[in-house]
Amino acid sequence: MGHKTVFDCSVIDLGKVHFDAGNLTVVENDSTFPFDVKRVFYLFDIAGGESRGAHAHKECHQFLIAASGSFEVALDDGKFKRQVYLNRPDLGLHIPPGIWASEVNFSSGAICLVLASHTYTEADYIRNYDEFLKYRMVPDIQLVSYDKHFLEKSWNWLNDPEVKYLTNTGDFTREQQQKWFQSLPTLQNYRLWGVMIGHEPAGVFGLKKIENSSAEYWGYIGEKKFWGNGYGKLIMNLILDEARHLGLTMLWLRVIKANPRAIKLYEKLGFSIIEDGEDFYIMQKNL
Ligand SMILES: CC(C)(COP(=O)(O)OP(=O)(O)OC[C@H]1O[C@@H](n2cnc3c(N)ncnc32)[C@H](O)[C@@H]1OP(=O)(O)O)[C@@H](O)C(=O)NCCC(=O)NCCS
Repeated sequence: MGHKTVFDCSVIDLGKVHFDAGNLTVVENDSTFPFDVKRVFYLFDIAGGESRGAHAHKECHQFLIAASGSFEVALDDGKFKRQVYLNRPDLGLHIPPGIWASEVNFSSGAICLVLASHTYTEADYIRNYDEFLKYRMVPDIQLVSYDKHFLEKSWNWLNDPEVKYLTNTGDFTREQQQKWFQSLPTLQNYRLWGVMIGHEPAGVFGLKKIENSSAEYWGYIGEKKFWGNGYGKLIMNLILDEARHLGLTMLWLRVIKANPRAIKLYEKLGFSIIEDGEDFYIMQKNL
């Protein structure tokens, strides 16, 4: 489904076996990475502070290991960027296809070991960044302030029987909604964003009950045509970043059991069930 994002690039602890004479780390097809290795190459004799890479692959998965020394990997999916620091031979970074990656800031004497899922094919490379963006056709997702326009949209969205049911929203009147909207600027423990997909208002996401280092996450895509396209994950990752910027270290949420899509999404993002109610779960994630 869709393209992978930088949040699908994972750092894997490969473990090590300790001997008196030194350490041993093993990587194997099937168990270590989600692909079979067809090609191995390594970059060495790179001057300190130098950069390499700066391309994307269409099909090829790569697994990077700092076999010696250290370097950073700058990851970019056209919308989000992440920088991963590799400085131990028992750590590996899995980069799925469709991610623009560069290795930067090599320490002197560093060796970058690359295990790849495909043999060399020039046609698999995207070396031009504009071409990469076109290839990704990156959806433009933005968190914006929750204004009157979104208030009006929310009225329609939350009165749609399906959205109302899935979000477990009770009945409310126009007056109650207005009162709530006017109280927003005074609520210290509450953050709320409207979400735009392209030029369209698409949904509402927020953090409630912010206290000390935790908060309750909640949110919904109100425009149904955007459901099931992977947008939920992208939006939630933006909210998780906002939560980190607020200094939060834990988020929890409540979801009805009859909402398998939302539950799957939350599990994929690292939430786990901490309370199993009659018809709902409470899930939690450390940031
Ligand atoms: C919940 C919501 C945010 C999910 O966002 P989305 O962009 O539609 O979800 P995605 O397309 O990313 O799907 C999430 C995952 O659930 C899976 N999924 C979809 N429908 C599913 C179903 N019926 N059963 C199990 N898994 C399902 C998808 O395959 C995807 O997993 P994948 O990435 O491994 O393929 C969005 O659908 C929404 O807001 N729905 C209406 C309101 C709501 O439910 N809000 C949450 C209240 S707690």
